[in-house]
This record gives sequence, structure tokens and C-alpha cells, in this order.
Amino acid sequence: MKILVLYFSGVGSTRKVAELIQDCLLHTKNCIVDLYSIENCVAINFITYDAFIIGTPVYHGAPSNIVNNYFNSLPPLSKKIPAFIFNTRALCSCNTNRLLAKQLLRKNIITIKDRDYRTPASDGALILPFIKRFFCYEKNIYTKIHLDCMDFLERLQTKRLYGYVPRFRFSSVINAPNKFMGQMITFKIFLHQDKCVKCGRCIKNCPHYAWERTKSGYPLFNRAKCENCYRCIHHCPAKALSLSKYSTPQKLLSFIIEK
Ligand SMILES: Cc1cc2nc3c(=O)[nH]c(=O)nc-3n(C[C@H](O)[C@H](O)[C@H](O)COP(=O)(O)O)c2cc1C
Ligand code: SF4
Ligand code: SF4
Repeated sequence: MKILVLYFSGVGSTRKVAELIQDCLLHTKNCIVDLYSIENCVAINFITYDAFIIGTPVYHGAPSNIVNNYFNSLPPLSKKIPAFIFNTRALCSCNTNRLLAKQLLRKNIITIKDRDYRTPASDGALILPFIKRFFCYEKNIYTKIHLDCMDFLERLQTKRLYGYVPRFRFSSVINAPNKFMGQMITFKIFLHQDKCVKCGRCIKNCPHYAWERTKSGYPLFNRAKCENCYRCIHHCPAKALSLSKYSTPQKLLSFIIEK
């Protein structure tokens, strides 16, 4: 069984879950498991795989734009390939898996299992840093991932390949204003020059190339390109980036993602 795990991760939670999935599959069954971030993979020969596992963070009740753009630009596969899709979210994933499954279906990727995992809140950790829940994964996440992987493998092996689109969730109606605001407004990210050590990590690692280096060595923010994944803020070694003009962030999520 050859399985491709493909994900995008803004700050690191989705990558962590993707790595746990790969680890779990490699340890429990005799599978070949390739793991790629959508940001780094150049050309993948999709049809050499028996199945996919595809993960996205939830941004305003929807998959990340990076994931959307990647699959939009993919031509439909020449054969149907089953997939387990998952998202990482802080509070509510709304219709994220539904939107992703619909998009994948157009490319001949058939969702046979979907899941959402509660992970640290890359937005909440900055806005409400006193809420402990925003810094941790859901309880027993490793066990849940293990059970999900086993179930997925069993479905593949017994050929129970019933594709479906996850049902419409009414929570998305309540979340509609948040989604609308999120899609219309990109928050400005402020540079606190007195803290910045000009390391260039924000420039190098932004998935949307929204930071440029200026002659002075300081990074310059281009709001029009930003998706608000907050990787630059969480990964700044000097806590020099913030959503506030007046103060730097209190606590950051400590994952490192290098492109
Ligand atoms: C701009 C933004 C919007 C978000 N919107 C939602 C949301 O609508 N629902 C939710 O449950 N989590 C939301 N989150 C939290 C992320 O889904 C969660 O932190 C996820 O684990 C991030 O994955 P990553 O670390 O791989 O980037 C949002 C995070 C950001 C940065
Ligand atoms: S990552 Fe932080 S310290 Fe490094 S250049 Fe960017 S803002 Fe400055
Ligand atoms: S500039 Fe925007 S898109 Fe780039 S890393 Fe920062 S928050 Fe993410």
C-alpha cells in the first residue's frame, strides 16, 4: 500500500498531525508513506499512489487558500483515488471538510473518511493568550489519530470505498459573519523595530511572500499578499511581530517550520 500524506501548515499544528499520521502508518502496517507539504512539493506522480491523506488548517471556517489554489490548479487524475481528509481547528471547522471534499471530487479524489482535530489556535493564542485551551491539542489525539488510520487502512483493504461529501454543518451559518469578515479583512501585522534582529526568517518563510527586505535590513509587510496564517508572528525569534501597534505578543506557539 503506497500512501501520500499531503498537507499545508501555517504555524505547525497541521504538520504535527500529518507527521503523527505518517508515524502511525509506518509503525502499524507495512505501508510506504510519503509526506509532503504542499509548499515544498514540486511534481508528484499522483497515480502511483493507492490512497491519499490530505490535511489543511481551518481559516475562517474554510480550507487554507494555499490548499484551495493547489488543488484548483491540479488537472483531474486519470483514475479515482480514495482519500482520508482532515483539518486542524481551534473551535469549529464548520464546512471545511465539505468544501475540501467537493473540490477534491472534481479532481477524481474520493473522500472515504474525514476528521477534524482540535489543535492550538494560531489566531486565538495571539488575541486571547490567557486561554490555556488555545495552546494545546485535544486530549488523546495520538490515540484518535491511530484509530482513524487503522479505520482508513481497513476501508482500503476491504475495498469499502464509499465516497461521500461531508454533510452541511449548521455551525457554518452562525460562523458566517466571522467567515465573511475573515475573507474581507486582512489584519495588519506590525513590526516592532526595536526588537527585530533582522534575521530574515519572516521573509524566507512566509508562504505568500508577503514580506520584503528593505535596504535597512528590516522586513516590510505587504498586506495585500498576506493570508493571516500568523506563521511569521509565531516564528519570529525576537517576538518583534504583532497584531498590535503598541505591544508585542505575550506567548507564541513554539513550532518551527522552515520552507
Ligand atoms: C486567520 C485564522 C483564522 C482561523 N479561523 C478558524 C476558524 O474559523 N475555526 C477554527 O476552529 N479555527 C480557526 N483558526 C485556528 C486554526 O484553524 C488552528 O490554529 C490550526 O491548527 C492552525 O493550523 P496550523 O498551525 O497548521 O497553521 C484560525 C486561525 C487563523 C490564523
Ligand atoms: S523574523 Fe522577526 S527578528 Fe527576524 S527579521 Fe522578521 S521580524 Fe525581524
Ligand atoms: S505575512 Fe501573512 S501569510 Fe505571510 S507568514 Fe505572516 S501571516 Fe502568514
